[in-house]
Amino acid sequence: MEINQLRSLVAIGKHPQSDPAARIDPASDGDLARALQAAESEFQTSILQPGTGLGGLTSQGAQVLAWAETALLEVEALHRNLQTSKKEAAVAPLLKRRSVSPKRLSTPGPSAEDIHWILKAALHAPDHGHLHPWRVIEFRAAQRAGLADTFEQEKRRRDPLASPEDIRRAREHATRAPVLLAFVVSPNARSMVPMREQTLSAGAALGNLLNAAHQLGFGAIVLSGERCFDPVLLEALGIQPGEFLAGFISLGSVVKAPPDRDHAAPLEVWSCWTPAAEQAAAGAPSADRGQLAD
Ligand SMILES: Cc1cc2nc3c(=O)[nH]c(=O)nc-3n(C[C@H](O)[C@H](O)[C@H](O)COP(=O)(O)O)c2cc1C
Repeated sequence: MEINQLRSLVAIGKHPQSDPAARIDPASDGDLARALQAAESEFQTSILQPGTGLGGLTSQGAQVLAWAETALLEVEALHRNLQTSKKEAAVAPLLKRRSVSPKRLSTPGPSAEDIHWILKAALHAPDHGHLHPWRVIEFRAAQRAGLADTFEQEKRRRDPLASPEDIRRAREHATRAPVLLAFVVSPNARSMVPMREQTLSAGAALGNLLNAAHQLGFGAIVLSGERCFDPVLLEALGIQPGEFLAGFISLGSVVKAPPDRDHAAPLEVWSCWTPAAEQAAAGAPSADRGQLAD
């Protein structure tokens, strides 16, 4: 039976049995008539008592309509589940991205072409005024030793009693990742776009960058730490007044996937606004935390 015929049967089952006007007229209600015929043919039984219209179900007819109702509910539930699976599949790449610590990364890192596409994706983030208020600095292999020296000096400035192990770790931050970028937030002070929106645009770009790396099959993580606030280090990296160093992005091939982590549920960040006048009338709280609606 077709699903629409199931729907018609269910409609017949819900029809007020006592309605004297409820006569099936095959000419005017072809769908209902065809559904009845299909069901009668399928189950080899009469569904309506002759001459009673929709008011007189046979006992077998009542069973068929009860079956139709259950079957329709199941079909509709299956449709909903399949739709949900499609939606889940559509956002799966975003749901699967995880930050991968440098310890879990190895060569090869993203190629120059990969980085091109990663930055292209970052430049497609929401960007009020099209300012792209951020930039990245890549630290190529030949510059890593110099960067490690810079990290070591910063560590010694911050912690004159740093142990050899502390120094080794500080240097390692510069050398471990196959590809290392600095992510610099670089707002345009002359723009009418408020600073906070420029900062958010940069953050959105950073999100796109990480998602694009993930989509290209690489692991990535942003790490900041105290060194991002050190004026001497910032000057050595060419960070300009008005800019800030958001962090260093390590990229590479994932040698060991990070463990899953829990994420908050959508309802934890969602509420539904109720105007104050409506709240007062209903005595309801301002944030409706019932359920996400269509
Ligand atoms: C700008 C920025 C700087 C960050 N700095 C650090 C950091 O210094 N140390 C750290 O443990 N996590 C830092 N994080 C968080 C990690 O990059 C990562 O997002 C976090 O571990 C959660 O992992 P997930 O991305 O898989 O959810 C930073 C994140 C951002 C966006």
